[in-house]
Amino acid sequence: MMRSCLLWLLALSLCSTEACRTNRKVQSSMKTTVFGKLRDGREVHQYTLTNKAGMVAQIIDYGATVTSLLVPDRNGKIEDVVLGYDSVQGYVDGTAYLGALVGRYGNRIGKGRFQLDGKEYQLTINDGENHLHGGKIGFNKVLWEAKPDGGSGEPSLVLQYVSRDGEEGYPGTVVLNVRYTLTNKNEMRIEYEGTTNRATILNPTQHSYFNLSGSFTKTILNHQLMIEADDMTPVDKGLIPTGRIASIANTPFDFRNLTAIGARIDDSDEQLIYGRGYDHNWVLRNGHGEVRKAAELYEPASGRLMTVLTNQPGLQFYTGNFLDGSAKGKNGIAYGHRTGLCLEAQAFPDTPNRPEFGSVTLRPGQRYGQTTIYQFSTRQRSKENRT
Ligand code: GLA
Repeated sequence: MMRSCLLWLLALSLCSTEACRTNRKVQSSMKTTVFGKLRDGREVHQYTLTNKAGMVAQIIDYGATVTSLLVPDRNGKIEDVVLGYDSVQGYVDGTAYLGALVGRYGNRIGKGRFQLDGKEYQLTINDGENHLHGGKIGFNKVLWEAKPDGGSGEPSLVLQYVSRDGEEGYPGTVVLNVRYTLTNKNEMRIEYEGTTNRATILNPTQHSYFNLSGSFTKTILNHQLMIEADDMTPVDKGLIPTGRIASIANTPFDFRNLTAIGARIDDSDEQLIYGRGYDHNWVLRNGHGEVRKAAELYEPASGRLMTVLTNQPGLQFYTGNFLDGSAKGKNGIAYGHRTGLCLEAQAFPDTPNRPEFGSVTLRPGQRYGQTTIYQFSTRQRSKENRT
């Protein structure tokens, strides 16, 4: 309750109309507050990043989790667009990875097993017979060390986690730094940098659930999506890729043009049945390396548009099919089926067992690097959308 009042006051103080925003200059800033305490007494901090355009991002050091993103709609109305909880306990108990930084391996590894340099490793099994999102105590369930940095005019927060050799079955001690920057172009830029002292695998990702409507009681089915991909990786019943790279032409997976997410989600397509909706990896065009546009997500009623850019080869699009209203989110709202969606930039699922998918191996002396950007803007109502 207290938190929602604070958020409301924050949004109000940032102006709610375009005119107001243009007449008054918002200074960029970073504020630190205590979000709560873990059972062992350690404090969890919340960092509030505000940019010059009035957008706000809130991040906690538990799980390097994005707890809220306040973004203007086409009329300048600022609302939260990511699902989350009001308390530390919500994040400790939560099973849906709301807003979290997941790893070491974002997504699934078949039977939690892989070979590296001739040795077999067995990771924690935590999703049927498979390994998902780093295991039982993944990067989302630990306290990171935070280093705020407001120096450059764009508030920025670096979070560091040292994952010990053997954690959840992974070899090597990994040091991972994740920098969240709220740019003055209304982007949340996420830069990852990782090193190891022994050969290992690393594939972290960001697991924010977006709902651009401004209301978490609405589903995301009216959102329109475009993904810069011609292919996807089909999965088996356990959501492990079969190894095939399949064309999306003439399937419900064709998002080459902006298309309503709900238009085909319940089609009788084997892949949609396995995923209980969309829960698949798209093969982004233009391979590995450069940061390029990966997707566009548009919510026609609010006009909010989110553009995703990344240097990663894959994008997991997940429609919140496992959200079932059982957990209470921010302001006491129970998040129902498909009320949030994730666009997770990453290497393809199960890459350690699929050399044809590339490599996620990290060796001593090498540096893991990922840049992913969630950029917010608005579009005017188009004639077709006018009601
Ligand atoms: C992912 C997976 C989904 C599901 C969610 C968390 O993105 O692909 O199958 O496990 O995380 O609920």
